[in-house]
Amino acid sequence: MAVPRTDVLHDFVCISNRLPVDRVLDADGVPEWRTSPGGLVTAMEPVMRENGGVWLGWPGVPDETFDPFTEGGIDLVPVTLSAQDIEEFYEGFSNDTIWPLYHDVIASPAYHREWWISYQRVNQRFAETAAAIAAPEATVWVHDYQLQLVPRILRSLRPDLTIGFFNHIPFPAYGLFSQLPWRKQIINGVLGADVIGFQRPADAGNFQRSVRRLMGYETKSARIMEPQSDGTFRQILAKSFPISIDSAGFEELARRPDVQARAAEIRQQLGEHKTIMLGVDRLDYTKGIRHRLKAFSELLCEGRLTVENATLVQVASPSRERVETYRLLRDEIELTVGRLNGDYGTIADTAVHYLHHGYPREEMAALYLAADIMLVTALRDGMNLVAKEYVATRFDRRGVLILSEFAGASDELKQALLVNPHDIEGLKDTVMQAVTMSVSEQERRMRYLRKRVALHDVARWSRSFLSALDEFPALRQPAPTD
Ligand code: F6P
Repeated sequence: MAVPRTDVLHDFVCISNRLPVDRVLDADGVPEWRTSPGGLVTAMEPVMRENGGVWLGWPGVPDETFDPFTEGGIDLVPVTLSAQDIEEFYEGFSNDTIWPLYHDVIASPAYHREWWISYQRVNQRFAETAAAIAAPEATVWVHDYQLQLVPRILRSLRPDLTIGFFNHIPFPAYGLFSQLPWRKQIINGVLGADVIGFQRPADAGNFQRSVRRLMGYETKSARIMEPQSDGTFRQILAKSFPISIDSAGFEELARRPDVQARAAEIRQQLGEHKTIMLGVDRLDYTKGIRHRLKAFSELLCEGRLTVENATLVQVASPSRERVETYRLLRDEIELTVGRLNGDYGTIADTAVHYLHHGYPREEMAALYLAADIMLVTALRDGMNLVAKEYVATRFDRRGVLILSEFAGASDELKQALLVNPHDIEGLKDTVMQAVTMSVSEQERRMRYLRKRVALHDVARWSRSFLSALDEFPALRQPAPTD
């Protein structure tokens, strides 16, 4: 395994809670590195391959310290988290306080002072590690809600750096955000960055409102004016930069003969003549999996669909399994799937194929190719890259994307069938519209969707964020005090 040099400083540093690979044990108990879950990794991997630099993050296991290493052509610097950090910083404050709060309190956020202390401690550690490896005047790009204090700490440690922050998840309306006991500290932490990116204009607007209400700072369109002690203002840019995927890479994968053969095999195993519906999500309460199952089960109950002519494949990859809300969700989903299959399945036909696994990209591409209908019914989602992956894969221009209007992707993918997943009747009707959609209509919609995803790919996203950061030295000049 190649080892990146630690005696040199780096001009570009990316920081996220997780590294793109997790340390796991294979079937024989031998440790190996495996791609970690989530949209952040899908998006940032190609960016890091193209731009170089180092990626700093947690290797996914407690208390283990690893030297820097190179994996898949990317230089990685692991940051150690203790078992206590994982419990309080990761599972606690990040995923049981901020995550539900930022996803419109679909689940109740828990507020615990000891989690907050842990969050500050771990953010300090990430910032100090980055400060130690960044070259003079380097660019540091900090990612996501786990690390909102890092920009401010980093700025105080290394004022020479240009700092970007990108929030991959939604930013909530002020009425919700203001619940957070440490709301001012969080806003102040993020404001340490020069450029702050959000998925949707609405997220950027919510953030700016919180800045005005909590800090009393003036905002001028996308710019925030932070008063300095000498009477001048530091300018900060806060706007939307909708994230995307490596569209060409996905299409290339889908065109591979082995992937197409696998897609044909999946179709054949599920039943050639059936309408194959697909859901692909981390097993998370924000994804609307229960709503999807409810709609499907009612369609079966009403006889509008039958197990002889339709099946639902639900990939639910394991996620945050030690957080209580996630444990309860898993039980609920598995109970529902069991009931549904018990009530409607036959020896020959299964209603729901439930798969509690993560799969490699090749298998995902084959599943996308095999699916007639892709169901993205998130109750709230920063972007949802699965929707874009489905579109990028369908070079045959077939298939129908059903997309929640509460996923960021709905701002761009207007030719999908947009749904409000809370409206079960509406969702059922939309599923039936997809089932009966003519091939020419599928092609018309898919052509538009594919154009959008091909043009607005992840390279364009990172270019636009990084060039906003590049242009920043000009913005960093203090603004006049008028
Ligand atoms: O953007 C959503 C996100 O939380 C990422 O920050 C993260 O890498 C991914 O989902 C998966 O979550 P986790 O790291 O908690 O498994």
